[in-house]
Amino acid sequence: MLILGIESSCDETGIALYDTGRGLLAHALHSQVAMHAEYGGVVPELASRDHIRRALPLTRQVLAQAGCTLADIDAIAYTEGPGLAGALLVGAGIAHALGVALGVPVLGVHHLEGHLLSALISDTPPQFPFVALLVSGGHTQLMQVDSVGRYTTLGDTLDDAAGEAFDKTAQLLGLGYPGGAALSTLAQTGDPQRFKLPRPMLHSGDLNFSFSGLKTAVLTLTQKHPGPADRADIAAAFQLAMAEVLTAKSLAALKQTRSRRLVVAGGVGANRQLREALNAGVSKLGGAVFFPRLEFCTDNGAMIAFAGAMRLVHGGRAAGVFTVRPRWDL
Ligand code: KG4
Ligand code: ZN
Repeated sequence: MLILGIESSCDETGIALYDTGRGLLAHALHSQVAMHAEYGGVVPELASRDHIRRALPLTRQVLAQAGCTLADIDAIAYTEGPGLAGALLVGAGIAHALGVALGVPVLGVHHLEGHLLSALISDTPPQFPFVALLVSGGHTQLMQVDSVGRYTTLGDTLDDAAGEAFDKTAQLLGLGYPGGAALSTLAQTGDPQRFKLPRPMLHSGDLNFSFSGLKTAVLTLTQKHPGPADRADIAAAFQLAMAEVLTAKSLAALKQTRSRRLVVAGGVGANRQLREALNAGVSKLGGAVFFPRLEFCTDNGAMIAFAGAMRLVHGGRAAGVFTVRPRWDL
């Protein structure tokens, strides 16, 4: 069964072809990051217009890469939500139009389910059950994943998402948007011990997160130490605090669920210091950490095609109705 996946929930147009027998055949991505950078954040209307421009050329591209034609497609999976309403509507519109034209089922997929399962697009996938740490620009969640479709939320952020905290801190340090990766590069040249930042919720006794206090602490620091030489030290202190909190809560989640497998998904999962801290902590527990391929950490079409394929393989049905869900709990 060949599934076309379409992701358009935010600022990335992702298209992919996943074959249930042969695996991932092709995927292509267009990131709008450069387009939104001058506005300091994603402009929803511009995002929608760009998805419209990109989706069909990318679809042609993946078909050519895979050596397939539209007639080979057996089903279409698109991101139904959560995300920006207009952006989601582009993917939903194209998916349903193609579905009608080709006479194939169309399936709405939860964006976070795509992230949760993205580490399974691998030759050495983690076995179920596992704990997933989902750290993106919009979400920070710890989830228990028992099998396809069986997900339990263990912890969530009470305010900012981890990526949002990185981006807002990066902005305070004058690093532009989205600044997570730039902050990480700057932190490499800094002394993480010079400034002591709080570790929010570290001892809260639950698996929830809160990052807005950390951001406020950084703001105060940047006002007290505005020199360009201080910025690297602030970035390093911030990154260390984030890595420590995310690692401590992930380890607590593994202990609570008696699991030894941690899957990390979402853009912040690309952070080197976080990866090292998680690897060190989890291996001390005798467990293993699984990261999706770097290109599948951030938003992409492959995870949507894959999640759609898993749904169909496990008896899921296409709803056949045209819907998007900008707000949608998993
Ligand atoms: O998963 P993602 O591509 O998009 C969402 O669905 O939100 O995550 C993007 C987020 C941004 O906040 C970005 O700053 C952050 O991931 N990010 C990083 C790094 N690379 C991307 N944060 C910290 N360190 C990085 N190396
Ligand atoms: Zn995402």
